Amino acid sequence: MIGLIDYGTETQAELDELSFQADLSLQRLKPRLEQVWEQYAISDERQKIFESRLQEQWRPLFAQLHELYSGRYDFFYHLEQVLLTCALAFAERSDDLCEIDRHRVIEPDWFQSQNVIGGALYVDLFSDNLSRLREHVGYFKDLGLTYLHLMPLFAVRPGNNDGGYAISNYRTIAPSLGTVEDLKLLADDLREAGISLVLDFVFNHTSDDHEWAQRAQAGQREYREFYYTFADRTVPEQYERNLREIFPTVRRGNFTWHDGMGRWVWTTFNSFQWDLNYSNPAVFRAMLDEMLFIANLGVDFLRLDAVAFIWKQMGTSCENLPQAHSVIRAFNRLVRLAAPALVFKSEAIVHPDEVVKYIDKNECQVSYNPTLMALLWESLATRRTDLLVRTLSRRFSLPAGTSWVNYLRCHDDIGWTFDDDDAASIGINAYDHRNFLNQFYSGQFEGSFARGVPFQHNHETGDMRISGTMASLAGLERAIEQEDEEGKELAIRRMMLLHGVTLSIGGIPLLYMGEEWGMLNDYSFTADPAKAGDSRWIHRPRMKWEYLEELDDESGRDSIRRRIFRSLQSMIAIRKRTLAFAGQEMSLFPTGNHHLLGYVRSNEASNVVVVANFTEHAQVLDANRLRTAGLGRFFKNLLNDVEYGTAEPVLLQPYELLWLKRI
Ligand code: GLC
Ligand code: GLC
Repeated sequence: MIGLIDYGTETQAELDELSFQADLSLQRLKPRLEQVWEQYAISDERQKIFESRLQEQWRPLFAQLHELYSGRYDFFYHLEQVLLTCALAFAERSDDLCEIDRHRVIEPDWFQSQNVIGGALYVDLFSDNLSRLREHVGYFKDLGLTYLHLMPLFAVRPGNNDGGYAISNYRTIAPSLGTVEDLKLLADDLREAGISLVLDFVFNHTSDDHEWAQRAQAGQREYREFYYTFADRTVPEQYERNLREIFPTVRRGNFTWHDGMGRWVWTTFNSFQWDLNYSNPAVFRAMLDEMLFIANLGVDFLRLDAVAFIWKQMGTSCENLPQAHSVIRAFNRLVRLAAPALVFKSEAIVHPDEVVKYIDKNECQVSYNPTLMALLWESLATRRTDLLVRTLSRRFSLPAGTSWVNYLRCHDDIGWTFDDDDAASIGINAYDHRNFLNQFYSGQFEGSFARGVPFQHNHETGDMRISGTMASLAGLERAIEQEDEEGKELAIRRMMLLHGVTLSIGGIPLLYMGEEWGMLNDYSFTADPAKAGDSRWIHRPRMKWEYLEELDDESGRDSIRRRIFRSLQSMIAIRKRTLAFAGQEMSLFPTGNHHLLGYVRSNEASNVVVVANFTEHAQVLDANRLRTAGLGRFFKNLLNDVEYGTAEPVLLQPYELLWLKRI
């Protein structure tokens, strides 16, 4: 088998052979391309753009598709369909978007700027619908956001739809939210305001009522092969020997019996989310078409949902297989042809060794950083930074031209995805530690400040994840309940500390909207039968617009929400002014104190030393360590203008964060 050109594992003879096949295939396909240009009256100039991109992308693209699909009797047919789908999408791309393509091809790492700051929200929970969302563009600007992720908003099945992740049609918007036209108008407004639009590409599965699934149910074999279906349990049982269960409280195993078809269907997530069969090139082509349609709506970042699961192979865990990477890389090449402004963001919430494999300028340029997220919470619980420091030292750096998306909470649960050996190397037993963290964040550990709840507790394996809003996990809910003033203060400081790290450590910081107000858990989901079984709804509260009024109300001086909002807004503004926060360059320095995290950010000639205290007690940093890390004797904290000399030890208040610039 011929490997991937991108991975460089082939012999010269294999490469030569592949190049020959690629070139000849393209020569044979050229007349079909001409037909597209003619049919759409595409100008010569525009054709040339596509053809010069094709020059660059074709051989590696061919190699990827060849690796995945050359065993098929109809490989050349699918190759042709893939190229034509791509050319058509290019032909239909608007002039405005083509103009953005042109800029981003020249400046591919535009998203590394310190100006890029994200927010994520559910349209219905935030503003009811898309047209009302347009009225709030000023709100995002005011907070300083330049990247907006709208949770899935396409048409979904009735009833439980996994928060939009069970899509029945990728080309229509859920009627309650608006229309494709509304979305395009919003995209225009956002662009005008300097805000990038981020949408999901939910490509591991469709809803069970998607047209393809319906055709499969109606007995059309061509569409049945879009999914993994089995007449009896024999094969599913063979697969299941090696599979994890993602939602064990929903359904045991990974397969769902469908009465109408009289077959078992592969459903990694909920029973109504049917996994697509990417070993079938028709699926690859069909989903390419859906993806480029979404790209042409004016999307800047595409969040590739559940990337780990898209390829299955008997005898493996069916997660993170090499072919999953090939599928994404092939999609990436096709995007470089038709819509190169688009950036892929990987959602791989898996072991850190696997997370990084998706991050490459030829695969996903940006990725969620689930390990940092989990370990920031781990450090808050333990008041120690050892595991965080250990992990960052081995796992933070990324290839050039790529970037982390650093977040604290999102619409999903928290899973403790650190490496067991990283933990063992500093004397931590991973299994026990995860148990402790689950106990701590579900509030069951004596003295815990957190008010999270369990998610997907698997009683057999003891596995558990945690749901809860940032504020409730950081202690605000408990402190308010107990009217504990000091507790409130500490909770707010914990939140600001974590924000201060994600805003400075390197990469794109991403807020989960509601965090800017310290929103607490919302327990009302249990009253809705379509949500009651999924505790993630506890951290998906509805926006309360009345909070905005508190912002300018001087009499509400001690309003907690106002304080959180204003502090966050100010930190964002400072980040944007600080060139050292651009890019990914980060070096840890030894603070000599287990409760502190210390790192230096540098970009071009600009440096900032960050020190963070993860305890509710004051801590001391040896000034000489600051002097050596920051190469200076006098510093100013950008957050509050307090100055520090290195003649005396540096004192950090409970949960204090310093962004130190040399003066
Ligand atoms: C992703 C989403 C999650 C969803 C799952 C299935 O992990 O973030 O919310 O349940 O995919 O689509
Ligand atoms: C698992 C999956 C991840 C998904 C999450 C939802 O962790 O790996 O993709 O977001 O479950 O809970």
